[in-house]
Amino acid sequence: MSTEAIGIDIGGTGIKGALVDVDTGELLSERIKLATPKGGEPEDIVKTVTDVISQIPGVAEGTPVGVCFPAVVQHGVTMSAANVSHRWIGLQAEDLFEKAIGRDITFVNDADAAGYAETQFGAGKDERGLILMTTLGTGIGSAIIYDGHLVPNAELGHLALDGFDDYEKQASYAAKEREDLSWKKWAERLQKYYSYLERLFSPDLFIVGGGVSKHYDDFLPLLDLTTEIVPARFRNNAGILGCASLAAHGAGTRRRKSAEVAVDKTN
Ligand code: BGC
Repeated sequence: MSTEAIGIDIGGTGIKGALVDVDTGELLSERIKLATPKGGEPEDIVKTVTDVISQIPGVAEGTPVGVCFPAVVQHGVTMSAANVSHRWIGLQAEDLFEKAIGRDITFVNDADAAGYAETQFGAGKDERGLILMTTLGTGIGSAIIYDGHLVPNAELGHLALDGFDDYEKQASYAAKEREDLSWKKWAERLQKYYSYLERLFSPDLFIVGGGVSKHYDDFLPLLDLTTEIVPARFRNNAGILGCASLAAHGAGTRRRKSAEVAVDKTN
């Protein structure tokens, strides 16, 4: 098994990448960050990803590559597009990246990557049981990890709650910014959100990530929950670490080529 892998995190504002030591979770290179092309169109994003990879120094040939993306990723196909161009929906995105990069990649949802990183190296390291990771950013990303095993593609940011049909629009960090909510007002929404998750899943631990988690002292103490809730250890690097690690451990969402999917449908 490889101990080094490249992780690439595609986000709404930036595409970041680095070489990662997947045993320790340390970055082995500087972090390269390029702006996400306006509109988030597939060709532009693919091009930017290849640019990021070519700028990462010290990469040995054959190093595994993990790429994470802010959408449901099933068998290499992007199935949703909450905060990127709608042209991603139903796209054989993994193939597109592989053709452009010239080798196989591991392609996963961004919050799944972040959750995996936290359980491997961060706030959930050595924790057993059910961990729910949420990332509070442009949207709300979520990952379900049970005893170290990732259950991919939980889209818990889009729960219908409190009369709203997509609660990430109320409780994401972008909603706080957009509506200029105080920590207290925002925490009232987070309270509803995490209480609901608690009712649905009875988790053992909540981990809260996203850039805003560095201000955890301003909002986590305002929440009244039965479940322990802790800030993520990694903020901006969680996606990079997680997808690099999934790539090296061969533990991404199980990949089936489109031909196999077609065969399955006939059963
Ligand atoms: C998307 C998720 C993603 C999250 C964080 C949501 O809007 O539906 O797939 O993980 O944003 O980027």
